[in-house]
Amino acid sequence: MTEPDLFSLPKAELHLHIEGTLEPGLAFELADRNRIPLPFESVDHLASQYDFTNLQSFLDLYYATMNVLRTEDDFAELTRRYLKRATEQGVRHAEIFFDPQAHVARGVPFEAIVDGIGAALAEAARDQDVSGGLILCFLRDHSVDSAQNILTAALDRVDSLIGVGLDSAEVGYPPSLFAAVFDRARAAGLHAVAHAGEEGPASYISQALDVLQAERIDHGIRAVDDPRLVEFLAEEEIALTVCPLSNVRLRAVPDLAAHPLRALMDAGVRVTINSDDPAYFGGYIGDNFVAVSDALGLTALEAMRLAQNSVEAAFAPLDRKVALLHEIDGWAKQAGVPLT
Ligand code: ADE
Ligand code: ZN
Repeated sequence: MTEPDLFSLPKAELHLHIEGTLEPGLAFELADRNRIPLPFESVDHLASQYDFTNLQSFLDLYYATMNVLRTEDDFAELTRRYLKRATEQGVRHAEIFFDPQAHVARGVPFEAIVDGIGAALAEAARDQDVSGGLILCFLRDHSVDSAQNILTAALDRVDSLIGVGLDSAEVGYPPSLFAAVFDRARAAGLHAVAHAGEEGPASYISQALDVLQAERIDHGIRAVDDPRLVEFLAEEEIALTVCPLSNVRLRAVPDLAAHPLRALMDAGVRVTINSDDPAYFGGYIGDNFVAVSDALGLTALEAMRLAQNSVEAAFAPLDRKVALLHEIDGWAKQAGVPLT
């Protein structure tokens, strides 16, 4: 059998920060258009900064660069370009994170952000049959009051959202701080997810599940430090949205060969592969599938299972999930993947 094409494998992207898709070229285009100075001389100079030592070193650059995003059109253009790259790599459903506190703080209206991203998602649904939705992430290294305030703005536009999440600097900011915020979001009918166990301990994963009632865990790789938690995740079919290239670039793991993804899969955990901040970490979702497949020796059947996991864990209507699972079956048949 020839190597199956992992780009064409239909898949859902469940862990993607739209601000993390801002490629250096577009950052400079928007900086010119909006007359915002960037502290870099050129596209190449900006790209040369992408050498991170940990999560915080990345976040410093991520927040500085997103400063160029100002208008509804900026958010629409950013999302259009992401969706183009994503569909070229097999994405059929995309649940997109955004960080509104960072934008509202410099005067961007909440509506401009959700309308811009929403317009691009609507175009992709109409023109390419790509489905998706928006997940508002609270910045855990900002105050709880700030999170409550952005949630108040969001609740006026609750139909524009599918869920809430929790991101930014993890260590020292346990999920339990945001219990009341998540209670309020869930009471409004929003799904809940949370970054946990990226750099932080396994106990943050348990807390996100128990206290925030998170339905999926973003990253979650430190679960491997707690075998009972791994068992629990497998039994309860809780999905982890793992981002392998991100973990290597932010030095959460030494290299892909040492990535806990294989151990988690073998323990029966519902693992998915995602891209996190692809403009910064050297690859979009298909690139993550290929890199993991090469480093961990995934079989085509295992890659297919990862794609099935992503569809099963998506916050999409059941008929959409059934249709996408059929597409994955079709891919397997065409690629001659042995189904045992
Ligand atoms: N915001 C954007 N990317 C992130 C990551 N990998 N972890 C936490 N917050 C983030
Ligand atoms: Zn993330």
